[in-house]
Amino acid sequence: MKVTTLISQEEISNKVNELALIISNDYAEKELLVVGILKGSFVFMADLIRNLSIPCRCDFVKLSSYGKETVSSGEVKMDLDISSRVEGENVLVVEDIVDTGLTLSKLKEILASRQPASLRVCAFLDKSSRRKVPVEIDYRGFEIPDKFVVGYGLDCDEQFRYLPYVGIIEEDS
Ligand code: IMP
Repeated sequence: MKVTTLISQEEISNKVNELALIISNDYAEKELLVVGILKGSFVFMADLIRNLSIPCRCDFVKLSSYGKETVSSGEVKMDLDISSRVEGENVLVVEDIVDTGLTLSKLKEILASRQPASLRVCAFLDKSSRRKVPVEIDYRGFEIPDKFVVGYGLDCDEQFRYLPYVGIIEEDS
């Protein structure tokens, strides 16, 4: 398998700074609960929160729909719930990539039912051409083409999460 760079480390760093600035302004004077979707978002979330100029609390959920395939099975299940109370909180969901939108819309539905004060989404990557269900993204890193990408937390069968850049994975021919 070959990985070709799509988004460089420098482009990522600039974008994370940009997003963190906007988010810090939007949530100034507010309590923020950042909820990362495991596993893919952990690298992005770690960089994002360290660039915020406001305090926040962090929690994680684990949702799965993929298994080992590179095509979504369409089924989303919650493997791990957050332990934080959501009612009355300003919740910011952090996702690595929005593909079909099924994962995010399921999580938004679950969290919305717990009556947060506000519920927004920050997604590092957006593959909007593959959307199956509409889902609003409040803070978006990069729009990307319909290619399977890895790195910066994203994996292919648990490989490549450690790459500091985002690359397109190509099967050897
Ligand atoms: P969705 O429910 O189809 O939007 O899928 C979202 C999840 O699928 C992400 O959180 C990723 O874990 C995974 N995913 C979708 N596209 C890719 C990709 O190109 N590379 C790695 N993981 C992906």
